[in-house]
Order: sequence, then structure tokens, then C-alpha cells
Amino acid sequence: MILLTALALLVILFVLFKRSYNQYASGLREKPKYFLWLLTCFINFKGWSKESYCLRTDNIKSTDNSGYLNDKDIPVRNQSRPKMLRALPHRQLTQQAPDEIMYEMHKHMESISIPRYGGQTINDQLLLRGPSMVEYTGANALFLPNPNKNTIENGEFAHLHSNDGSFHMMLHPSDAKLLINKQWAEKFPLVGMNLFNKIIIPDSFVLIYAPQNESELNIWKTILNACIDYNRDNKNKH
Ligand SMILES: *[C@@H]1O[C@H](CO)[C@@H](O)[C@H](O)[C@H]1NC(C)=O
Ligand SMILES: *[C@@H]1O[C@H](CO)[C@@H](O)[C@H](O)[C@H]1NC(C)=O
Repeated sequence: MILLTALALLVILFVLFKRSYNQYASGLREKPKYFLWLLTCFINFKGWSKESYCLRTDNIKSTDNSGYLNDKDIPVRNQSRPKMLRALPHRQLTQQAPDEIMYEMHKHMESISIPRYGGQTINDQLLLRGPSMVEYTGANALFLPNPNKNTIENGEFAHLHSNDGSFHMMLHPSDAKLLINKQWAEKFPLVGMNLFNKIIIPDSFVLIYAPQNESELNIWKTILNACIDYNRDNKNKH
């Protein structure tokens, strides 16, 4: 009798878990691992997946005010923000990049980088590209070569989510604020945290919404350039 009750409870729990997982994964263009869903439950519980949490800019620390973006180069984004999954993964559920824009983004990344094998190059000015080291569902990333103590982990400073066209990148704090305020970006829900006692995610790690057309693609390139310059300068800081 007890065994049967336990079995019935297990089945009910399983069905509930499955339903909750399906709800979480619906709208995504990928199938995340169960452990990401478990982390997502925790993130939701903590309130970090709230829109207001990801759009807060007053707590982004800035040591100096001059970022790499010019206010006049960045118009206010015309559309309302996309519907999001703000957890793991951090993804757009609407307004994904059209295929031809995705193609242009990949082409642009290829034009500014070489494939990453060992991560070391003689020319410190080159950028490397390869699979992301921090994105669990797969993404193409850009790396600074020859990482040092000023770069995060392996020198990865930006990656493209190939399923929706959004981009995670590390920006100058002032640029991050500017882009969040002009509706181009939002913070990654786990910024400021120390993951696995290993990776500290800086305050200004943001998601840039997927460009929708050529004119938005140009803005995306401007943002990416600012990101590259910032991360290079940051790496060479003493
Ligand atoms: C690009 O897309 C945005 C958002 O849909 C729209 O507001 C803008 O007018 C478009 N620009 C062009 C040049 O089509
Ligand atoms: C937003 O819309 C205006 C007018 O519809 C257009 O001139 C401008 O280029 C658009 N901005 C972007 C970023 O597409």
C-alpha cells in the first residue's frame, strides 16, 4: 500500500516537473538541459528574472563616465522590447533576427576574426572566434587572444546566440547604461554573481536584442566595435 502511494506520488511529481519544464522551454528555439531549468527555477525564486531587475541601471558601477559609444550614434530602438526568457538561457522569445540578418552577423564576425584553436596568437591585435566557453546551449563567440588577468576567463567577451540573433557582450558601464535606456539591451540576470566560485560576471554584461534589418544591423556593428575597443583597452590596462 505504502509502495503504491509512493509510486503514485512519484508519477504525479514527474508529470508536474515535465509540465513546468515544457512551459519553460516553449517559445525557445533550442532544447535546454534539465539542469538549466532547475537553475531557472532558482533564479525565478530569487526574483532575478524580473524585467525591472534586468533593466536597472542605477547599480551599474562606473569608474569614469566616458564610454565608447556616442549618444548621437545610437537612436532609441523603435520597437518595444521583445518577450524574453530571463534566466538560463537568457533568450528572446519574439523578434528574433531574420535568417538573412543572421547570415550577415556571422559574415561580419568572420570578417573580423580568425578561428580559435589554442587561444594564443603572435599578433595581439587579432580577434579569435570559436564555440563559446560560457554558453551552455551553444553559441559562436569572439575572444581576445593571449588572455591575461584583466580578461574574463578565456578572453571571451561576446557571443552570438545562433537561435535568436541576440548577443551577450561585455561593455563599458556607461555604454551598457546608454543601451539599456535606449531599449537596445538588458542586463544578464546573473550579473555581479560569482558562478561556481570561478566566473564573476561583471555588472555591464548585457544582452543586445537581435537586429531586425540592415539599419539595425549597422547599429549592432557600432555596438560591437565599442565592445571590442573597450575589452582591448581593458586587457591592456596595468
Ligand atoms: C528596421 O526595423 C525597425 C523595427 O521593426 C523599424 O522600426 C525600422 O523602420 C526598420 N528600418 C528599415 C530601414 O527598414
Ligand atoms: C525608427 O523609425 C524612424 C521613423 O520611422 C526611422 O527614421 C529610424 O531610422 C528608425 N530607427 C531605426 C533604428 O531603425
